[in-house]
Amino acid sequence: MRKITVGITGASGSIYAQRLLAHLDECPDVMAIDLVVSQAGIRVVREELGINVSGAGTRPVRELIGRDSDKIVLHPASDIGASIASGSYLSDAMIVVPCSMSSLAMIASGVTRDLIHRAADCMLKENRTLILVPRETPLNAIHLENMLKLARLGVRIIPAMPSFYHFPQTIDDLVEHFSHRLMDHLGVTHEQKTRWEGSRKNRPENNKDAEKFENHT
Ligand SMILES: Cc1cc2nc3c(=O)[nH]c(=O)nc-3n(C[C@H](O)[C@H](O)[C@H](O)COP(=O)(O)O)c2cc1C
Repeated sequence: MRKITVGITGASGSIYAQRLLAHLDECPDVMAIDLVVSQAGIRVVREELGINVSGAGTRPVRELIGRDSDKIVLHPASDIGASIASGSYLSDAMIVVPCSMSSLAMIASGVTRDLIHRAADCMLKENRTLILVPRETPLNAIHLENMLKLARLGVRIIPAMPSFYHFPQTIDDLVEHFSHRLMDHLGVTHEQKTRWEGSRKNRPENNKDAEKFENHT
């Protein structure tokens, strides 16, 4: 049973956080989820999903995943006295999704301006799993250097880059596949139906898909 910390910052791609949280909430491997949304994260969630996750209580989580959760605890980003601000709190893994270049820089430099940065700093000092899902394009040398610095410290850098080898038909397909990849890295079980199992044209059960594949190549 895992305790997972999720940070949402003000990069584009808040839909990934929304989907991941919904899955983690349902996952039997996960006993608790500590959630923090940065100030800019609140803004971007509003812009991209039309949801207001500011304030406290159960309403923001309900708005975000569409139901109440007895696993997800929302902490204000300003609360540097929250449980996850201490290394003595045993969080198994932390993921910042999406991760802005600003929060990435803060974490890379050890500056803790809000609870997301502080919790990430704790994961680093305690040598626990930290996953960042950066989203920006193009990337400048500062962004790249910060990512390299963090990768060398053992941080998993998993850019929000959707893949197309599973023939996604909708945005939902892209988000679902990517959120499953994140769950793999968090070490929680899930049912992914779109794992790569070799080229479709080589799979006898999929003659229709094989045709589709041929048309794509
Ligand atoms: C609609 C919107 C989209 C944004 N997208 C990105 C993005 O993809 N990547 C990024 O690094 N910053 C992006 N930003 C800028 C960040 O929100 C800004 O740098 C902010 O200070 C990040 O703060 P935080 O890391 O504390 O959340 C975006 C801002 C807005 C309003």
